[in-house]
Amino acid sequence: TPKSHSIEGLINKRLPSEAIRLLRELGDTGDALGLSVYAVGGFVRDLLLGMENLDMDVTVEGDGIFFAESFARTHGCRVRSHPAFSTAVIVRPDGSKVDVASTRLEYYESPGVLPTVERSSLRHDLYRRDFTINTLAFCINKDRFGLLTDYFGGQQDIQERIVRVLHNLSFVEDPTRVFRAVRFEQRLGFHIAPHTENLIRNAVRMNVLDKVGGTRLLNELILILREREPVRAVFRMAELGLLPSIHPALKQVGEAERVIHETTQVLAWFRLLYLKDHCEQWQVYFLALCDRLKQEEFVGICKRLSVPGRVVSRVFGLRNRALGVLEAMQRRLKHGPPIRNSEVYYCFQGLPLELLLYLAARTRHEEIRRFVSLYITHLRQVRCTLDGIALQQMGIKPGPELGYVMKHLLTARLDGTITTTEEERSMAMSLIRQST
Ligand code: CTP
Repeated sequence: TPKSHSIEGLINKRLPSEAIRLLRELGDTGDALGLSVYAVGGFVRDLLLGMENLDMDVTVEGDGIFFAESFARTHGCRVRSHPAFSTAVIVRPDGSKVDVASTRLEYYESPGVLPTVERSSLRHDLYRRDFTINTLAFCINKDRFGLLTDYFGGQQDIQERIVRVLHNLSFVEDPTRVFRAVRFEQRLGFHIAPHTENLIRNAVRMNVLDKVGGTRLLNELILILREREPVRAVFRMAELGLLPSIHPALKQVGEAERVIHETTQVLAWFRLLYLKDHCEQWQVYFLALCDRLKQEEFVGICKRLSVPGRVVSRVFGLRNRALGVLEAMQRRLKHGPPIRNSEVYYCFQGLPLELLLYLAARTRHEEIRRFVSLYITHLRQVRCTLDGIALQQMGIKPGPELGYVMKHLLTARLDGTITTTEEERSMAMSLIRQST
């Protein structure tokens, strides 16, 4: 029998009342159907840790899809169900979601009779999970609300801040868990238990990751690179041999160390700008991770991660262009005349934010970092007041001539040689006169 005690006090203290109400409503549906319902997994872990997490996972002892549909019917929600897995997602009117799983251990004693749910089926369900810290559950049925079930010592491991598997075959059964171990360790500031770490190293030695599909691998990598502070996780992955088992070229990730650390700085700077643009942090880190790689190696990694061919060629082309721009700028800084704003603009134009930030992290030249910054904060927004239509009204024919004038005006705007609409107009006029 598991240790069981009530954490109702903690629930009331730490969860927003809206979340508590939802838990109770889910419990009421369970009561009405005669099913036991538990909040489980990361939600419970983070509640005990005092970390905000409103991604609710519930497990139903019995048919979770039936439960989800009943709840949805009475609460105006939608349901997406996955019969193959006996899981469902309740989508609430405000868009928030509740994941529902079934313990699935029900069996039919004879046809036509209601299924019997095995008494310890919750335990079986929790036993299938990755780490002890994710195996805690508390009941949300009315008469047992807040009763915590701890079959595998999850509370103690949370207290001692340990990431520990439940059994020796965990990583063989699901190799993606090696990434999850690192992710939890670094995010929560925990330690992977020594035996668990050995199991990871063994799994890596047995090449279990070779059997994982590229998309799943990429997803795990993305999840890590989206964490608030992914750098330590990156080096932990390297140390455990996870990166080379994605692709041999990632063995040299140590050489990219400076760029990876700079990436953190650059992203912090970018966040402080509070721009509306969305920037995919994971992509910037991914580019940094691949910093030292040859082009074929970069493409090889993308292929291993099942990145679609057209995306690879686009990213490949852009990455090459960006690296070319960096080199050209470095040469110019050493030799040529000062670089004008318009040159910066045309160099960077069309490069995605993620690549620009990567360039800023990669370069050792403070001037180039300033160019990236100037481009992101200022130059890329620069427009002329006179647009194509206004210029046509002045008598410029659409086509190459119009393009020429527009580019000329924009260049002058960018370099600050003109600043007003009047100046634009007279510059346009003199350009027309010259060309005729
Ligand atoms: N799980 C698992 N093995 C996996 C993925 C998930 O055992 N490869 C289990 C974990 O026990 C986890 C639960 O499924 O608690 C839900 O998975 P997920 O939502 O990914 O985990 P969370 O713990 O909620 O993680 P996060 O905080 O990152 O959302």
